[in-house]
Amino acid sequence: MLVARIAEESDCESVYLWRNHPSTRAHFFNKDPISFSEHKRWFEKVISQNHTLLYIVEDPKGDPLGVVRFDVEINCAEVHIYLVPDKRGRGYGVRVLDAAIEQLMLKLPIYTLLSKVKPENVASVKVFNKAGFVEVEVEAGLYIKKL
Ligand SMILES: CC(C)(COP(=O)(O)OP(=O)(O)OC[C@H]1O[C@@H](n2cnc3c(N)ncnc32)[C@H](O)[C@@H]1OP(=O)(O)O)[C@@H](O)C(=O)NCCC(=O)NCCS
Repeated sequence: MLVARIAEESDCESVYLWRNHPSTRAHFFNKDPISFSEHKRWFEKVISQNHTLLYIVEDPKGDPLGVVRFDVEINCAEVHIYLVPDKRGRGYGVRVLDAAIEQLMLKLPIYTLLSKVKPENVASVKVFNKAGFVEVEVEAGLYIKKL
């Protein structure tokens, strides 16, 4: 069973390395690398506010598998996911996403999740579909899951 825990200050550097990895950025809408100081400012803000929830999902041994972020607005949250680069392509994506959604639901009354996925990001499209998201706007790559 996977464990989704809220990110802490000590995760700042790891999250930076995973998020800034070229294989991660390649799938983002903004592909530009970011500096560590910029990341640190963003990370500190995120972990101190309550409308963004950043989860680190780990395997039963405590090895990190991926990061899931929820940007919450009232009863809706936008989801962002990336796995640790060397954990990709092994079927962890949907399990990581499900583990984080489960924790989010225990914490907040969220009824709708949405995600924007580039259509060419086949692995991501498949993962969101497997996790119960439905494509609602093909061109915008918008996926929604009702909880
Ligand atoms: C997207 C991501 C979360 C997917 O998780 P994953 O564990 O690597 O995905 P999986 O190994 O379970 O693959 C999912 C499916 O896509 C398929 N797939 C993967 N890459 C593919 C490709 N290039 N072409 C076609 N199918 C592909 C897999 O075969 C699998 O298919 P199946 O479910 O029918 O078996 C992960 O790869 C990742 O972090 N990518 C970088 C960041 C990113 O893209 N984030 C999402 C932004 S919206």
